[in-house]
Amino acid sequence: DMGGHDTYMHKEISEQADAVDRVLRGRIDEKFSTVHLGGLNLDAREARGIRRVKILGCGTSYHAGMIGASLIEGLARIPADSEPASEFRYRNPVVDPDTLYIAVSQSGETYDVLAAVQELKRKGARVLGVVNVVGSAIAREADGGVYVHAGPEVCVVSTKCFTNTVVAFALLALHLGRIRDLSVADGKRIIEGLRKLPGQIQEILEGEEDIKKLAAEYADAKSMMFIGRVRGYPVALEASLKLKEISYIHAEAYPASELKHGPLALIEPAMPTVAIVPNDSLLEKNRAAMEEIKARSGKILAVAHQVQEKADHTIIVPKNEDELDPILMGIPLQLLAYHTALALGRDIDKPRNLAKSVTVE
Ligand code: F6R
Repeated sequence: DMGGHDTYMHKEISEQADAVDRVLRGRIDEKFSTVHLGGLNLDAREARGIRRVKILGCGTSYHAGMIGASLIEGLARIPADSEPASEFRYRNPVVDPDTLYIAVSQSGETYDVLAAVQELKRKGARVLGVVNVVGSAIAREADGGVYVHAGPEVCVVSTKCFTNTVVAFALLALHLGRIRDLSVADGKRIIEGLRKLPGQIQEILEGEEDIKKLAAEYADAKSMMFIGRVRGYPVALEASLKLKEISYIHAEAYPASELKHGPLALIEPAMPTVAIVPNDSLLEKNRAAMEEIKARSGKILAVAHQVQEKADHTIIVPKNEDELDPILMGIPLQLLAYHTALALGRDIDKPRNLAKSVTVE
C-alpha cells in the first residue's frame, strides 16, 4: 500500500520523521545523558576493552557505516572505519580479539555481509548487527546489536533505512562514549540534537517543491560530481549512488580535498557539482573548492546551512550538532535523485539491473 504516494520511494522518503522517532523511542536516558540499547549484549567492562571498531556493509549500508564510524570515533574516541563486506572477506583480514565488528544491513540477508559475519565468528570475533529486518539471517548470526526500526522498505533503493541506520549508529556511539570518556555535557548536547531530528527532517521534506524545480534544472546533465569533506564525504557518496541507481546519470563522488589531484580535469559547464557545505570548521575549505570549480565554469548546487555565494543554487538545511548534520544533509539529495529520475521517466521503484536484496555471491 503506497498510502497516496505514486511510488514506494516517495512514501519511504516522506516517512523519515516518523521512522527516526521510532529508532529513538524508549532508548534515551536523560538522567545519565546516555542511551540504553537492549539487544547489544555488551557489558561496560567489555565496551571499555574495545580497541578498534570495524564496520562492514554493502552499498548504502556501507555508506551509513562510514558515517557510523565517524560518529563512533568522534564520540567514543575509538578508531573506527567502514569497509565493503565483500572486499573484507576476500582479503584474508587479520581478525583481532580487541576489535568490535559491526555488520550493517537493511535486509539482514545480503550474502556478502552474512558470509563476512560467519567468517568472523569462526575466528572467534565478537560481531554486532545494525540491521532493519527483525529476525533476519544476519541479526540471528550476530552476538547482539541494534535494530534500526525503519519499518518495511519496499523500494529497491534504500532511503529511510539509510537515515535510521545512521541514527542507530549515533545511539551506539553515544552509548559507547558515555561508558568511556564522553562528558555528561556532550552526552546532553547529542541527545538534544537527536531529539530535534524528526522536526528538522519534516522541515526539509516541506521544501520538496523547490528541490523538484532544482532537479528539473540539473536533469539534462550527462554526468554529475558530488563533493564533501570528512563528515560530508559519505553524504556525497550516498547521494551519488542514489542518483546513479534511479536516474542512470553517471555520477562521481570525491572528497573535496582530492579535486585538485585529478578529478578537477572533468569540470566543465556540462558536469555540474553538488557540494556538501556544512557550517563547521571546514566551511572555508569547502568555499575554496567551490571557487576552483567556478573558475572552470562548473555549475554548483550547494547543500548548506546558509546561502553559498559561490554556488549557483543552495538547498538550505536546518543546523544540528556538527556530528549529526550528515543525517539531515542526505535527505534533500534523496529528493533530488527522486525528482531527477521522475523528470527522466525512470521506473523508480524497480531500477534496471538491481534487486532489493542480493542473496547470492
Ligand atoms: C542502494 C541499495 C543497495 C543496498 C545493498 C545492501 O540504494 O539499496 O546498495 O544498500 O545491496 O543491502 P542491505 O542493506 O539489505 O544489506
